[in-house]
Amino acid sequence: MSDIQLGVNIDHIAVLREARRINDPDPLMALAVCAQNGADQITIHLREDRRHIHDEDARKIIASSPIPVNLECSVDPEILDIVCELRPHRATLVPENREEVTTEGGLDIIGRSALVSDAIDQLHDAGIAVSLFVDPAAHIMEQSKALDAEMVELHTGAYANLFAMLTSALPYTRHSIRELELPRDELQQRLDAAVDALRQSAEHAAAIGLDVAAGHGLNYHNVRAVTAIGEITELNIGQSIIARSVFTGLAAAVRDMKTLLER
Ligand code: PXP
Repeated sequence: MSDIQLGVNIDHIAVLREARRINDPDPLMALAVCAQNGADQITIHLREDRRHIHDEDARKIIASSPIPVNLECSVDPEILDIVCELRPHRATLVPENREEVTTEGGLDIIGRSALVSDAIDQLHDAGIAVSLFVDPAAHIMEQSKALDAEMVELHTGAYANLFAMLTSALPYTRHSIRELELPRDELQQRLDAAVDALRQSAEHAAAIGLDVAAGHGLNYHNVRAVTAIGEITELNIGQSIIARSVFTGLAAAVRDMKTLLER
């Protein structure tokens, strides 16, 4: 099995910048550091509300990136026009809802099939390959193929939440609190089922000719079960890498400032 390609999602660098509405930290610097340290791809999400990555960030990143750029976007017509103009290496269609803290579920490609189909056609006409961020289920793999996508990105959020609940390793998201009241063996069964769904969907997708990525909520504790699935060739990981970088970098940042205060 060849290594899995790592797409680093750097939206959170822009989140930190937006907390002050200044130009530091700069996502372009994050791109350079990621590319120099083995990232195979940069992933950014140009949201309709522009809460982190702005059009100008996307433009500069796509223009200067030494590695492929995977641009996540919704099927909103205004956003799609911008993406077609920016021409990233690939566009990943994701669901978007203004109230959400992060992308909370896969794209509805059954109920919103016509919209998704039009979006895929528009992106293809602009020469952009398309991935669909979807929940892991057989009928969704079939529909992704029928819609002519090149790739699916399997949503690993349900798996990641269950893993966190069982191991108490990391915080889980609000909407999983109800499951916390479940007995441990029930949680374990659900975790096993979540891994099975990912594995079966990855096998199914690969068998019908789709490339397979996965992402959301993956971290240094839970990534193993996903890397064990041979059909998954790419992971897109953001939060856990940026969160870890705060602590791997904070010591040096404090030391550097202390040095400047020496008289
Ligand atoms: N893949 C997709 C399609 C996403 O929307 C996100 C979150 O922006 C990720 C991967 C990365 O998720 P996380 O930040 O939880 O690693």
